Amino acid sequence: MIDDIEKIIRAAGNIMLNRENLIIKTKGTRENIATSADYEVERFLRKKLTEILPGSSFIGEEDGGEGEGKYRWIVDPIDGTANYARDLKVSTISVALTENGTPALGFVYQPYTDEMFRAEKDKGAYSGNNRIHVSDRPLANSMFCTSWSAYKKERASMCFRISERMFPLCEDIRRFGTAAYELCLLAEGRIDIYYEASLQPWDFAAGALIVREAGGFVGSVKEKESYDKECPIIASNRKENFEVLEKIVSEEMFRLS
Ligand code: IPD
Ligand code: CA
Repeated sequence: MIDDIEKIIRAAGNIMLNRENLIIKTKGTRENIATSADYEVERFLRKKLTEILPGSSFIGEEDGGEGEGKYRWIVDPIDGTANYARDLKVSTISVALTENGTPALGFVYQPYTDEMFRAEKDKGAYSGNNRIHVSDRPLANSMFCTSWSAYKKERASMCFRISERMFPLCEDIRRFGTAAYELCLLAEGRIDIYYEASLQPWDFAAGALIVREAGGFVGSVKEKESYDKECPIIASNRKENFEVLEKIVSEEMFRLS
């Protein structure tokens, strides 16, 4: 089944790479974009993935869906749509399969580099055929990956305060514009610590499993992440680094309220 899912996701990647007749629209706020490719990729994945697992339900970012039953696909057809709309060539397809509400399989595909990340619960995380593992870097040598809440700018000052407090503690800060990919970079040991003020389950469901199976730590602030609603997400290579960031985030969240 894993091979079949990967074939389907690669085919979806080809749809994404074809930019002919691309239509770009905003949804809600001016920063939040959906392109015709987002819808096309999601419809393709909805059809193909529910076909290979009859009875499974499907939730996608663009067309939604219901979450009934034991197996549920949680899909972001294009994670990093703002990058995609600008042809920045850093965007991913994120596909998770949950079993009774918990991710059992996760795939993140970057079609521009043909990187296929995947994890199966309790069976490790991979990039292609290679087993991947988080880094062992201490906080002082770590690359912090974050964002400043582009879609809900009222949270931006809190995010900047968190960045300001983290910056002297770590090596540097990055923002790639696709949460799913950033979590995979952490799983592969290329970045080390991560925070986003609010992510939807389709942004992180696959990436969170990949990080955990690569030996890393993921969660929300002082609680487990939710697969039913948006939530803040923290991830890290080492538990002690996670705890430092979680403390800073919870102090700044408290200051906001
Ligand atoms: C977004 C990306 C981005 C993150 C946003 C997400 P989208 O997903 O993952 O990196 O900062 O919070 O919403 O909108 O491009 O699918
Ligand atoms: Ca998206």
